Amino acid sequence: MTQARQQLAEQLAEAVAKALEEDLGRQERVLLIVSGGSTPVPFFQALAAKPLAWERVDITLADERWVDAESSDSNARLVRENLLQGNAAAAHFVPLTSSASTPEEGVAEVARRTAGLAWPASVIILGMGGDGHTASLFPDSQELGLALATDEPLVAVRTPSQPQPRITFSAARLHQASRHILHITGDDKRTVLASALSGDDVRQLPIRAFLSCPLAIYWAP
Ligand code: 6PG
Repeated sequence: MTQARQQLAEQLAEAVAKALEEDLGRQERVLLIVSGGSTPVPFFQALAAKPLAWERVDITLADERWVDAESSDSNARLVRENLLQGNAAAAHFVPLTSSASTPEEGVAEVARRTAGLAWPASVIILGMGGDGHTASLFPDSQELGLALATDEPLVAVRTPSQPQPRITFSAARLHQASRHILHITGDDKRTVLASALSGDDVRQLPIRAFLSCPLAIYWAP
C-alpha cells in the first residue's frame, strides 16, 4: 500500500463519516452502499474506526459475485473482514447473497431483502475496472443494456471476462443516492476515466452512466 493510497483512503473515510453523520442527524436510519474489489480495503479499515451511531447504519454492496459466502472472491466476506470491525461492527449489513441455485433466481430474493432499506442511500461508493465497468455493469456482458435501462432494482449478469456470474444493482437503483463517489487508484484507471469524461459510449465505458450524478472522484496514483 503506497502512502498516497493510504492517505486517499483516510480522506475518503473522513468524508463518508461526515456525510453519514449529517444524515443521521435528520434520519432514523441511513444507507451506505460500498463496492467490492481490492481498492476499498484501506478505506473500509479507516471507516470502521470512525465513531458514529453505527447501529443506525445499514450497509450493502453495489454488486456481488455468485460465490460461496466464505470464498475469497466474496464481496460480503471482504466487507465482514474489513468494514464490519471496530466501531462499525454495530452496523447492520445486508449481503447480496441468496440461497437460490442460480443468480437469475436469486435476484428476486435479494430484491425483497434490500427493498426496505433507507433509499435513497446517503452515499454510494463505486469502484471502476480497467475496462470502464462499475458495480457489475460490464461492457462485454449481454445484460448491460438491461442493467442500464431497467427500473428493476437488480440484474443477474454473466460476462466472458469474469470467472463467476454476478448480481448487481441496476443503474436506476444505483442512481438513488444523495452522494455518489468514485474511488479509484492507478494511472491506468485515470486514463480510462479521462476517456469516459471525454465522451465514449456508455456501452463501451459503463462508468459514464454515473458521471452526471454528480460523481465526486477520489483518485491516487
Ligand atoms: C467487484 C466490484 C467492481 C470493482 C471494480 C474495481 O465486485 O469487483 O464491485 O465493480 O469495484 O472491479 O475493482 P478493484 O478495486 O479490484 O480494481
